[in-house]
Amino acid sequence: MNNLLIRPLQSETEAGFCAGFLAASEPWLTLGFSAEQVLQRLTDPTREVHIATRDDQIIGTLVLHLAGPLNGYIQAIAVHPDWRGRGSGTILMRFAEERIFRQSPNVFLCVSSFNHHAQQFYERLGYRRIGELENFLVAGHSEILLRKTSGPLLSFRQGT
Ligand SMILES: CC(C)(COP(=O)(O)OP(=O)(O)OC[C@H]1O[C@@H](n2cnc3c(N)ncnc32)[C@H](O)[C@@H]1OP(=O)(O)O)[C@@H](O)C(=O)NCCC(=O)NCCS
Repeated sequence: MNNLLIRPLQSETEAGFCAGFLAASEPWLTLGFSAEQVLQRLTDPTREVHIATRDDQIIGTLVLHLAGPLNGYIQAIAVHPDWRGRGSGTILMRFAEERIFRQSPNVFLCVSSFNHHAQQFYERLGYRRIGELENFLVAGHSEILLRKTSGPLLSFRQGT
């Protein structure tokens, strides 16, 4: 999609708008997240949060966790329901991968076992299944850990 600008989340208002459409979407509905719980995660200072806008309208958001053992973790990605299926999610993923591949050869993320559309989306983008975390967030559903890699860790040169 043309005219898509990706930039850091800048205000409580933007965070509140994003929290609203995430909490009203799968997988957060089935996982039982309230808008307040999503908002907490969007304003967590240990996370890097970006939004995609078009003509000053928020189209999607991306939450990255760039420290910790799974260094280079996409914690959340969502496109507003009115804008799905037009390429914005793919553009946000490309942005996340460029950001992460500057510091690590691995991009990790989890997808819920019931979120079949997102599983196809990630597979098409080259993500491979690493393992299954059973009953991880809620009973009866798994989180599936996925990885996309640019090569072995010990051959990786940061910033290249
Ligand atoms: C998963 C998600 C982020 C994908 O975002 P998106 O903007 O719909 O993604 P894209 O448009 O880039 O690609 C989605 C599909 O639309 C198709 N598509 C891409 N560009 C298109 C275009 N210009 N016109 C029509 N279809 C298009 C793609 O082929 C793709 O097909 P797929 O079903 O095989 O994946 C979005 O669906 C979403 O927010 N879902 C709810 C939240 C969620 O599940 N997040 C992931 C949590 S792990």
